[in-house]
Amino acid sequence: MTAADMTGADRIVLIIGGGSGIGETTGHLMRARGWRVAIADRDSAAATRVASVLGGYGLAMDIAVEAEVERGAVAIEEKFGPVYGMVVAAAMFQDVLPPDKLPMAVWDRTLQVNLTGTYLANRAFGTRMARRGAGSIVNIASIAALGSMPVHAYGTSKAAVVSLTRNLAGEWGRAGVRVNAVSPGSTLVPRVEERLKSGRYAADPGTFTALGRMVRPNEVAEAIEFLASDRASAITGINLVVDAGWHVASTWAQHGGVRPAPKRD
Ligand SMILES: NC(=O)c1ccc[n+]([C@@H]2O[C@H](COP(=O)([O-])OP(=O)(O)OC[C@H]3O[C@@H](n4cnc5c(N)ncnc54)[C@H](O)[C@@H]3O)[C@@H](O)[C@H]2O)c1
Repeated sequence: MTAADMTGADRIVLIIGGGSGIGETTGHLMRARGWRVAIADRDSAAATRVASVLGGYGLAMDIAVEAEVERGAVAIEEKFGPVYGMVVAAAMFQDVLPPDKLPMAVWDRTLQVNLTGTYLANRAFGTRMARRGAGSIVNIASIAALGSMPVHAYGTSKAAVVSLTRNLAGEWGRAGVRVNAVSPGSTLVPRVEERLKSGRYAADPGTFTALGRMVRPNEVAEAIEFLASDRASAITGINLVVDAGWHVASTWAQHGGVRPAPKRD
């Protein structure tokens, strides 16, 4: 298969962690834009459910386990076709904890899933894309990669994902493979809605953004689909922040916070 063969509307995208949240929303958006969608998730029931709604291919995969990622790569490409696009949205989250209360097992597992798992997926699928001469990878990082937060394992893992993205963009650019990251701010996926309802946030995350609200999952999906598509054909190695202005608003605290909206006429 040549690169030219894969430039049709029926390109295959694999979404790892596509069984819920941002990954699931991205699957729906990309299907609507003509992509054929494969869903991999540690939660095999969720992968099967989303894949069947999208008329795609679903499989169970724990991104942190090298043999599962390699087996998954062989299975998807044999049974569904060559993967052109890949979105890595699988992640492990952690509670807010000071270092002396953060169990090393949580530190290790967070790094294993978020960093090593992202690397394993990039290695397995990016290498295959590079051999074919075409592909586009979008790794999901986080605003936790950009600012200081008391989520030491999660934030460190996401900062490393941004670095990995840049390194692999250099590695595979001449082979026709682009590698980018998207860093969402607090995004209203069902998991976050539950946390909001159960009072697990110290304050509404939307109050800390320039736009005064949280991010919607489809807004992150739009950025992911853009980077995966040929509309971003000269863009590689970047980290596109989709945070409703969390980053810019964070330094306004010493000036009393961002300005409220003016009174409308
Ligand atoms: N929602 C937010 O506020 C937010 C903010 C910043 C970054 N992010 C990032 O966006 C991505 C998606 O997050 P989400 O909020 O949609 O979460 P989510 O929990 O809704 O979805 C994550 C999916 O990944 C799967 N998963 C977890 N561990 C896995 C593993 N080891 N192997 C394979 N699949 C695994 C889960 O089963 C789940 O379906 C993550 O990388 C997350 O760090 C989310």
